[in-house]
Amino acid sequence: MAEKIYPDSGVELTTTLAKHYDRVLNIGSLGLYAGFIRKAIREMRINPEDHILDLGCGTGRNARLMTRFLNERGKVTGLDISDHMGKHFLRTFQNDRRAEFIRTRIDQRFDLGISVDKVFISFVIHGFPHDVRDIIIQNAYRHLKPGGTFHILDYAEFNLDTIPVHHRLIFKTFECKYAFDFVSRDWKKILRGHGFEEFTEWFHFRGYVRLLSARKSRE
Ligand SMILES: C[S@@+](CC[C@H](N)C(=O)[O-])C[C@H]1O[C@@H](n2cnc3c(N)ncnc32)[C@H](O)[C@@H]1O
Repeated sequence: MAEKIYPDSGVELTTTLAKHYDRVLNIGSLGLYAGFIRKAIREMRINPEDHILDLGCGTGRNARLMTRFLNERGKVTGLDISDHMGKHFLRTFQNDRRAEFIRTRIDQRFDLGISVDKVFISFVIHGFPHDVRDIIIQNAYRHLKPGGTFHILDYAEFNLDTIPVHHRLIFKTFECKYAFDFVSRDWKKILRGHGFEEFTEWFHFRGYVRLLSARKSRE
């Protein structure tokens, strides 16, 4: 990756980390990640013909799990800033026309000229300043069909000062300063302010991680 735009962000990965990203997650989660992500993607209630936009898609590991629910008319469009992730994504989907990769920044306004059924963002949005998160949410909203759903898989809301000290230590060791701000915000209120409604949430990892799904109004 070229120079970081947000020096304090932990989601603009170095090339080395990007190269070994899936392995690092498997090891760092003591082998729990694979089962967790399969479950979270099942919770998205993907329909066979859905078109899903995956913001900050990484290696395509999540997109691969999504395509298990899709038929030949369903599709996943993965967006990422990293060339390395792009290469990995395309390798993951060799000979599978249900996925495409577009190298683009998601933290600036973009318009792909498509309307999708679902937008998914996993462990990306916490890593930006809050005004940039607003742009990402607007990008998601713009690309959703009326009634389409936005799925944020990321940290849940919690008070860092009141969680057990060893959990706080782990979070502070591994997370960037934007993540501290992310967990302190009311995400349903924020999404409501952007025109989303009908929230559903599923919790993982002792309640520290959440899949939050929100619907764009049907009008
Ligand atoms: C922590 S990883 C998560 C990857 C994937 N979503 C997952 O759950 O496995 C963050 C991803 O966001 C991408 N990313 C960071 N900043 C970005 C930006 N401004 N625009 C698009 N992608 C970005 C990184 O290249 C990386 O693939």
